[in-house]
Amino acid sequence: IQVLAVASEIYPLVKTGGLGDVMGAMPGPLAAEGIRIRTLVPGYPSVLEGLGEGEAVYRFDNLFGGPARLLAGSVLGLDLFVLDAPHLFARDGNPYVGPEGHDWPDNPIRFAALARVAASLGKGLLPAYSPDVIHAHDWQTGLMPAYLHYDGGPRPRTVITIHNLAFQGQCPAELLGALGLPDWSYNVEGVEHYGGIGFLKAGLQFADRITTVSPTYADEIRGPELGMGLDGLLRNRSDVLSGILNGIDEDVWNPVTDPLIAARYSTEELTGKRLDKVELQARLGLSPEPDTMLFGIVSRLTWQKGLDLLLETLPALLEEGAQLAIVGEGDAGTEDAVRRVAAEHPGRVACFVGYDEGLAHLLQAGSDALLAPSRFEPCGLTQLYALRYGAVPVVSRVGGLADTVDDATPEAIAANRATGVQFSPVNATELGNAIRRAAALYRDRPTWQGIQRAAMRKDVSWRTPSRRYAELYRQLLAEGPAN
Ligand code: ADP
Ligand code: GLC
Repeated sequence: IQVLAVASEIYPLVKTGGLGDVMGAMPGPLAAEGIRIRTLVPGYPSVLEGLGEGEAVYRFDNLFGGPARLLAGSVLGLDLFVLDAPHLFARDGNPYVGPEGHDWPDNPIRFAALARVAASLGKGLLPAYSPDVIHAHDWQTGLMPAYLHYDGGPRPRTVITIHNLAFQGQCPAELLGALGLPDWSYNVEGVEHYGGIGFLKAGLQFADRITTVSPTYADEIRGPELGMGLDGLLRNRSDVLSGILNGIDEDVWNPVTDPLIAARYSTEELTGKRLDKVELQARLGLSPEPDTMLFGIVSRLTWQKGLDLLLETLPALLEEGAQLAIVGEGDAGTEDAVRRVAAEHPGRVACFVGYDEGLAHLLQAGSDALLAPSRFEPCGLTQLYALRYGAVPVVSRVGGLADTVDDATPEAIAANRATGVQFSPVNATELGNAIRRAAALYRDRPTWQGIQRAAMRKDVSWRTPSRRYAELYRQLLAEGPAN
């Protein structure tokens, strides 16, 4: 089975969060299931550089306002189509926002172009390439199923995966023509969404299957609280909506082999983890105290991730005598607040505001516990990395966090099943209680090490998820041709 995946990120070429990790990690394990994935991504400077030469397989004289080329090539085992459209993608830095931190004004056009090319590949743009399924990821690629719908005629089957319903790609109705959508597409059964054009909405409307990245989030988004205005549509399409958990790339995230950490360690031999903790303390300017409990968090600094709750709960954490390491970037206000608390508590609280892949690995290796107090979390990867690295996750009981962490209840501890601490509802009081509970467990070393080892042994790989995606693709094909 040939699957064309389309997304705006793919690790290690371009990544702002979990989407990039997932796009980079999926193709390998899926290949073992007999699914051949080729991924179409925008030709950002870092992507073109990573691709090297590539082979120009198609030229567009005018693709949404400028000439463009479709390049084919492979990078580190990933088969890629790269859309080299300099007028859209030859911009340094973040893929979505300009240097001033605002969305690029032409984002609707940029990502419409990406979705249009994916749809055209499904309609025979390259005679030698005909995907059985096209799989869109997130709003940036949401117009792909809509283009195929309005093109009419035979088409491949389509899937859209929601990595985060909070980002919907909304733009003014006036852009309809510029996006290459027909007038009649602008209605509630089409691309119209709350008085504008909704990229994600369009994808959810027209894709043959909808998935999201955990079973719990698949349920949550059918309700008004976390449905972000799309719960009605998702309820209507319940029969084609499912949740498939993400896995982790075990070649990239493995404390036994990780070149980005100070000392390597395994479930059997945890000594190296202590050295990583000392290194993390030194790197961030925390007091060098290998026996002090160290909580870490690596996250986008946004409302979703509950950083404000963590800062509110700081007194509880400090009262336990623990240290806190924060690595992240995001909202200016949250970045300032994080810097402020670090300055107020030298040696006890430290932060790195910015993006640093190596530091993210060291934080997992050096932390005793990994915090994820998210208000909602489609899947969450940092708690999965934490499990693998024996940084016991302390998480809110939402979305993928609920599905991947086993709360350390007395029964779970007794049965060797406990892998972390969960709390609910998501507020500062309950987060404080969870932090106290984790600190008490940490003081009971044999119990703590039991939890750590159970966490490290837990299967967070792509083995099970890749089988589920393979099954989904096979089911779709068994339904026969579309249209
Ligand atoms: P989301 O995709 O919502 O941001 P995930 O938990 O799925 O959340 O994925 C986050 C990914 O981004 C992880 O790989 C994490 O290590 C990484 N990450 C987040 N912030 C930073 C940062 N400041 N520096 C390095 N890596 C980061
Ligand atoms: C999104 C979600 C995160 C998920 C990631 C990869 O960014 O916020 O929960 O892990 O996508 O699917």
